[in-house]
This record gives sequence, C-alpha cells and structure tokens, in this order.
Amino acid sequence: MARVFVTRALPGDALDRLRAAHDVDVWEGSLPPHATELRERVAPCEGLLCLLTERVDARLLETAPRLRVVANYAVGSDNVDLAACAARGIPVGVTPDVLTDATADLAFALLLAAARRLPEGWRAVREGRWRTWEPAGWLGLELAGATLAVVGPGRIGRAVARRAEGFGMVVEPVGRGDDLLGALGRADVVSLHAPLTPRTHHLIGEDALRAMRPSAILVNTGRGGLVDQVALRRALEEGRIAAAALDVTDPEPLPPGDPLLSAPNLLVVPHIGSATTAARARMTSMAVDNLLAGLAGEPLPHPAR
Ligand code: GLV
Ligand code: GLV
Repeated sequence: MARVFVTRALPGDALDRLRAAHDVDVWEGSLPPHATELRERVAPCEGLLCLLTERVDARLLETAPRLRVVANYAVGSDNVDLAACAARGIPVGVTPDVLTDATADLAFALLLAAARRLPEGWRAVREGRWRTWEPAGWLGLELAGATLAVVGPGRIGRAVARRAEGFGMVVEPVGRGDDLLGALGRADVVSLHAPLTPRTHHLIGEDALRAMRPSAILVNTGRGGLVDQVALRRALEEGRIAAAALDVTDPEPLPPGDPLLSAPNLLVVPHIGSATTAARARMTSMAVDNLLAGLAGEPLPHPAR
C-alpha cells in the first residue's frame, strides 16, 4: 500500500478505487494548497494526483524522495516540469480525449456569445435598456460563410472545427510553421488551442492583434499565457478587434482590479472548458488509472508528452 496525496476532492467515484488499494490523503480545501503546504503533504508520498493550479517543479520533487508518479488532472501539463520529473524517472500522466468535446463545446459557446453579443444584450435587458425591437440594434457576426482560424489544430481544435463546419463556417487550421499572421488577417474568428510552451507564450501579442481585422473575435480556451493581455486590452479599447471571449487568463483567477476586466467587448468565464459532469468524472477515472499504473511500476496509460 502506497501513500498518495490528492490535491482536491474530485467528482465521480474513481477515488474510491484508489482508496481501496492505497493510503489516500485528500486536500480538504476548495482553494489550492500553498506551495509550502503542498511540499509538506507530498513529502511522505509515493503518488501525487494534482490539478493545473499546482506547480510541480524541481523544488517540490526534492522534498518528495519517494515520489514515483504524478497524475495531472488536466489535458495540459504546463504546470508540471516534465524535464525535472524525467530526470528523477517519475512518469507524468494527463487526461486527454475525455474533455475534448466539453472544451470544444465551451469554445463554441464563447464564440457564439461574442458573435451575437449575448453578454451585452443580457446586460441591457437587466438594466432596463431594452425599449423596442431595433432594426440596427445588437448586430453581430453571422457564422455561415465566416472564416474561423483554429490556432493549434490538435484534438480540441479539430473538434471545434467540426462544430464550425456544422455552422457553415470556413475553417482554416493554423499549425506550427503555418503563416499565423496571414491566417489572422483572413479570420472573422480566431480560436486558440495550442499548448502553452516557451514557443507559444504570448503567441497572440501586439503584432498578432494588429494582423487581425477590426471585426474579428478572439476566443481562448487554451491557456491564458498564449495571449499578451496588455496588448489585448489595448486592442479592445482601441477597437482594433471586435471582441474577446476567454475561458483562461494569466494569472487565474484574474485579480478583481485587473485592468483587462475594464476592457470593452470582453467576456471572461472561470476556466470551465472541461466542466461537464461527464468529462470531470472521466478525468478522475483517468487520473486514477495513471496513478495506479505508476504505483504498480507499469507504463502510464495516458502519459504526458
Ligand atoms: C484544462 O485546461 C486542462 O488542461 O485539462
Ligand atoms: C490540446 O491539448 C488538444 O488536444 O488540442
């Protein structure tokens, strides 16, 4: 029986499978443990099941000499120093595929909300500013015939592309090595799905935003660090793009007074891409599968790459 630290209570019943086999310590808070608390709780453990809110770095690994496996409760692994884990022979698992549709749905919800100005319309109704049916009021983007640039056409990007095709959009996948600025200049909507790496950090910065059309919409369900938020705020304030709809920011959460929050035509939701009942339960099950395999000295079924 191994000792395992799980950094939050997780939905679904898969943690019971873990408890049946191992000595499981679950962080009781709804907020993440601080780095020092994390180190203390991981120190005696052979297994760690963590969230994207936890930084797994060389410093943490040093304090946990018995650690044999890290199971990240996310498809992304940018919160984990993969090189530091590899140097210690610690395999890292992630939860791909099971959140692809949920995240693509959310990207599309953001796309539609921005294209048809739902937050503005709802605010107007609530504030008593809906006075009549206005022929030229609340005009938005018609999706049929519009061009969607899918930046990072991996699993989630391709799932967004399938939805877009159903709406009659023209999809332009933009992979590594493709002409990003050219594609941005052609797009009515830009949706980000690239992993966050040193190469993609602030991929959407001043130059990229200047390449976009004044009528274009930016959707980000990838990682906050893909976008330079200072440049984004300026672009929204100066009307150089029409709107932005973000599921992810840097940092998360955005502090209450963050200047980005005062930008016009902005919608931000609290990193809920994978937040469906089904996806989150399957993520728990997958993370537990990774952990059990790692503790048994077997290859992880869903390794980070
Ligand atoms: C969520 O953002 C994830 O990587 O699973
Ligand atoms: C990204 O992780 C993707 O699956 O597209």
